[in-house]
Amino acid sequence: MGRDLTPQDVLGVPMLPPAGVAAAGNRVRERLGRVHRSMAPPPVTILEGLFGLLDHRVLVALCEAGVPEALTRPISITDLAQRVDADPEILERLLRFAATRGWVRVDRRGRVKPTRVTEFLRLDHPGRWRNWVEFAGGAEVVSAVQALDVRPATGGAFAAANGAPFFDWMVDHPDRWAAFDGAMAAGGQMHALGLAAAVDWTGTRTICDVGGGTGDLLATLLELLPEADGTVLDLPQVIERATQHPRLTAMAGDAFEQVPAGFHTYLLVNVLHDWNDDAAARILVCVATAMGAGSRLIVVDSERTAQPRADIATSADVLMAALTPGGKERDADAFAELGRGVGLVLDRTARLTSGDVAHQFSLA
Ligand SMILES: C[S@@+](CC[C@H](N)C(=O)[O-])C[C@H]1O[C@@H](n2cnc3c(N)ncnc32)[C@H](O)[C@@H]1O
Repeated sequence: MGRDLTPQDVLGVPMLPPAGVAAAGNRVRERLGRVHRSMAPPPVTILEGLFGLLDHRVLVALCEAGVPEALTRPISITDLAQRVDADPEILERLLRFAATRGWVRVDRRGRVKPTRVTEFLRLDHPGRWRNWVEFAGGAEVVSAVQALDVRPATGGAFAAANGAPFFDWMVDHPDRWAAFDGAMAAGGQMHALGLAAAVDWTGTRTICDVGGGTGDLLATLLELLPEADGTVLDLPQVIERATQHPRLTAMAGDAFEQVPAGFHTYLLVNVLHDWNDDAAARILVCVATAMGAGSRLIVVDSERTAQPRADIATSADVLMAALTPGGKERDADAFAELGRGVGLVLDRTARLTSGDVAHQFSLA
């Protein structure tokens, strides 16, 4: 798993665009979106905001019914309904909605056609993005989002809705934890391609991915760095599911207690955004303690931009508010300050094609 992946598999593009090109593309989308929104009368904007919950449900419902797998060529609604054992009338209404989102197309003859998105939603797609539908469609995620409040409950929305903080709750729900790991693996594959392109790996022979999930990010990265060996550190329940790779070691542990010493490069990808500043600093202390002369730490998270943008990073920040007790996206200044507090210097930052930012630290 996680090997021989191409940008086509992971992002649907023939070549990984340089991060600057991808950022310029996102800026164009952002501006067009602003124009699109500014043309709507306020009541329309309000209703579209409230109806946003339908996007989530329709996408999840169509996947649960197996529509992406059944929709391999243009097909009538009646035939598709038969294939997925659905009520043709309600299926047609959901598909009309899906067509307005670009998930499927509906042609003039009323036939449904797959799109690039349909392809990426299939269970057997190598990008594994369907795992995100499996995770984000879970009742625990939906109820945590519903519990989001500007006067947060003690312990945060997830615990208020589900009775325990995210990772504690997962211990008693192994199937849901596996779904979460799967979603992380999809993002991890994408991050591996972005990191390989954006970071200078000259001289890197050993990599430790702290909180690296099932190791799919590292396995993908190792394929691109044939000289390197890697170790993924995560909680024991996750490590049990770790992916296999000849140069990958899977190690069970607790990043709040100890991180193995002696690696050239340490990674923390989408880990610090799960935690408040105190907890993030405790993880950083363990990494800094493990680092030796010449080691570096690369922290990847979404970027909290000065001005809010209609992008995944802004959504990720709110998702962290729903799922974690105190987790959040940060900007480079916040990372530099976190690092300073534990004896790490922020040497440089690099933008990844995904829009996330890699912050590279060394020992002060
Ligand atoms: C948001 S996920 C990111 C996973 C992976 N780095 C990626 O980007 O795909 C956070 C990871 O931190 C792990 N984690 C949580 N608490 C941990 C701890 N105390 N020690 C080590 N890992 C932990 C979780 O199991 C999970 O794999």
